[in-house]
Amino acid sequence: MTVPFREASIDLGAISDNVRHFTRLTGVQVIAVVKANAYGHGAAAAAVAALAGGATRLGVAEIPEALDLRRQGITAPIVAWLHAPGERFEQAAAQGIELGISSFDQLEAAARAADVDHPVGVHLKFETGLSRNGIAPADWGRVLAEAARLERIGRLRIVGLFSHLSNTSPEDDRAALARFEEGVATAASFGIRPEIRHIAATAAAIDLPETRLDAVRIGIGIYGVSPFEERTPASLGLRPAMTLRGSIAAVRRVPAGTGVSYGYAHRTDRDTTLVLVPLGYADGVPRNASGRLPVSIGGRRFLNAGRIAMDQFVVDVGDTPVSIGDEVVLFGDPTLGVPSAAEWGDAADTIGYEIVTRIGTRVPRRTT
Ligand SMILES: Cc1ncc(COP(=O)(O)O)c(C=O)c1O
Repeated sequence: MTVPFREASIDLGAISDNVRHFTRLTGVQVIAVVKANAYGHGAAAAAVAALAGGATRLGVAEIPEALDLRRQGITAPIVAWLHAPGERFEQAAAQGIELGISSFDQLEAAARAADVDHPVGVHLKFETGLSRNGIAPADWGRVLAEAARLERIGRLRIVGLFSHLSNTSPEDDRAALARFEEGVATAASFGIRPEIRHIAATAAAIDLPETRLDAVRIGIGIYGVSPFEERTPASLGLRPAMTLRGSIAAVRRVPAGTGVSYGYAHRTDRDTTLVLVPLGYADGVPRNASGRLPVSIGGRRFLNAGRIAMDQFVVDVGDTPVSIGDEVVLFGDPTLGVPSAAEWGDAADTIGYEIVTRIGTRVPRRTT
């Protein structure tokens, strides 16, 4: 079998299974978060897999991401919650995209975009302590009054009330939940009864059952990457969807004392074999993990040697027999003995989220 030069294989069955797992675990609706090209996994294919697994709605950051899903034939409800300043919502409204609303101005813009017979679906976002977007408590009453009026005259449909947690500690998240519940109660006093209230993303959906409410917005969990430093995907009942691999592009036998890659950050300490892996920081291999990045070759683990370059890096495999074209698994499902995205995150002083999301466009995605 020929090993691909470089490839991210995406196990769509894992995405469907992970969604099923969250539906069973939480007992509420799953909103599958497919922003940022589904965390690098390919938005349309991941969305279809998530819907097949029972997700009832898709979540994206921006309207262009939602429109792209519509263009690819996805008709499921989609909510987009991060908007450009002064953004107009006509195109989104025409495509039935629901809007996360974080200000009075956005609410008015949404109402202007509504067509006479088609109210725009909105999810009002209440700021509960993350200090990002969301309607400030001081503006909440004014926005609610206007939203209730716009709903009465048929311009808007208030589909959801939502917020987002900081994952700082269970206490901080419970305090944010309590603020959200006050916000929901205030909304009820304006006659607003949304179809769904949602605040939990992956970590809270797993660990803080009281945050599950009517729906959970699951991103990293549906891709089978753990949001927790100390817990593996398997321990959470999840299966990683992405495996990053490549084929050995060159093999070189060198004497002790040979400098490797730019700046000779590594010199061989014995006669050894160096192999060249054709993925670099252009492909999302983090350069700041140079010298610490784990990979698997022939079922054995190695760390990369020397600096990671734009297109390639080197692995010192000692006397292990290897040939050009052999497979290198960069990361994937750790139950198969290969490094996980989380281990790459550790090596690069970041998180598994950033690793999978930044795998570059030059790496072909192959769905399985
Ligand atoms: C508003 C919002 N909800 C949900 C998510 C999904 O988070 P996670 O990937 O931790 O499940 C994100 C991701 O950043 C988000 O910004």
